[in-house]
Amino acid sequence: MKVSIFGMGYVGAVTAGCLARNGHTVVGVDPDARKLDFIRQGKAPILEDGVEDLMREAVESGRLTVTDSCADAIEQTDLSLVCVGTPSAPDGSLGLMYVTKVCEEIGQAITKKGSRHTVVIRSTVVPGTTLKVLKPILEEHAGGPAGEKFGLAMNPEFLREGTSIKDFYAPPYTVVGTDDEDVFKQVCELYNESGGEELRCTIPAAESIKYACNLFHATKITFANEVGTVCKAAGVDSREVMGIVCQDTKLNISDKYMKPGFAFGGSCLPKDMRAFSSVGRANNTPVAMFDSILKSNRDQIDRAAERIMALGSRQVAMMGVSFKEGTDDLRESPLITLAEILIGKGYDLAIYDPNVEYASLFGSNKRFIEQTLPHLKRALVSAEVALKHGKTVIFGHKHEVFTPLVSQVREDQAVFDLVGMCGPEDVKGSYEGLYW
Ligand SMILES: NC(=O)c1ccc[n+]([C@@H]2O[C@H](COP(=O)([O-])OP(=O)(O)OC[C@H]3O[C@@H](n4cnc5c(N)ncnc54)[C@H](O)[C@@H]3O)[C@@H](O)[C@H]2O)c1
Repeated sequence: MKVSIFGMGYVGAVTAGCLARNGHTVVGVDPDARKLDFIRQGKAPILEDGVEDLMREAVESGRLTVTDSCADAIEQTDLSLVCVGTPSAPDGSLGLMYVTKVCEEIGQAITKKGSRHTVVIRSTVVPGTTLKVLKPILEEHAGGPAGEKFGLAMNPEFLREGTSIKDFYAPPYTVVGTDDEDVFKQVCELYNESGGEELRCTIPAAESIKYACNLFHATKITFANEVGTVCKAAGVDSREVMGIVCQDTKLNISDKYMKPGFAFGGSCLPKDMRAFSSVGRANNTPVAMFDSILKSNRDQIDRAAERIMALGSRQVAMMGVSFKEGTDDLRESPLITLAEILIGKGYDLAIYDPNVEYASLFGSNKRFIEQTLPHLKRALVSAEVALKHGKTVIFGHKHEVFTPLVSQVREDQAVFDLVGMCGPEDVKGSYEGLYW
């Protein structure tokens, strides 16, 4: 395939060399004359193991050439990868000056070329940028709509500096955000099966996946370091601790606890967060991320309450109230906190939970509910009564007992789904998912 790559920085240079090695004809574009000279001489514009050899091989094979002319590059190729920098703006937002400028230039060059061209955004951009900012710029300058004058995709890069060539040939997967099947196939063809599993999604999802991955990595590092901080304070070798933590691939290094849904609660997680963080504080080594987690978790509940209140009706049915399905444990249940907020604001709540029967509660569970939500006794009703009562129906558990209730939701009812119990197509009334 004939490919142009805009931006000969870390990502662009490595991508150019690897695609040339894969047999593609590559034109690299960059306004930096020094970088272009380096590459023309078969030298690497960046310092990294293997990149010098990669560039020399690509240039000597004749499969990699470079230019500062956007028009020439578009004219000579079928597909362009945009790999220009997206640095932080002074206020922390994303600096789009390079990526908007390059889209302007590419759009103009497509008009000049006069035939369809595929534009693939590889730079990291926040969700919404490609469709709301870059697509209109391309359409304006290419003189016509996406899909007609040009194909558009978002294809995030997963390489890491230091191991970029290795990462290019063994990425976790190839993610292509596009609504165009032909563009999807064209982008996948670029990687000649070196891209791992090919996954198609929407453009904003592709943009978000890149951020979710990087934020997860940053969170993992901070997590391990905060465990280290507290362990050190307690005289424990955290390498031993984290080594064993990572051996649990069932709950720890797995997709468990990794689905967007409602806040956590129960008798262990909140208590243990507080206790572990307090060891850090007691030793003058506070752990900022762990300290902020319970606040963030509470924000989840407050925001859900605000959205439920915004639905407009004061008559609310809550399906599920224990801290998770399959238990009657109400201690520190986020659904109890949600019920407490709504009742406190004067909302009329009817609650159904197949596992919670007030008369059967005892011990610390009973004491907790008597102290936090004595109204629960009055609010607990049968499924039928709850469903009849609520103008807003909250699904707080994904419980099979609730499945027949979904189809009984009336047209005048609004479902607020905290757990992915159903979808808009399953209910007669309106539907709002927590994060979907
Ligand atoms: N560096 C990484 O490891 C990495 C990994 C994955 C994703 N990313 C993302 O990829 C993008 C590129 O990152 P980078 O580190 O390679 O950036 P970089 O700053 O090293 O390189 C960007 C290049 O783009 C060039 N450029 C600017 N305007 C241009 C234009 N109009 N036409 C052509 N070229 C132009 C610059 O001269 C520069 O050489 C960023 O969005 C970054 O967040 C980076």
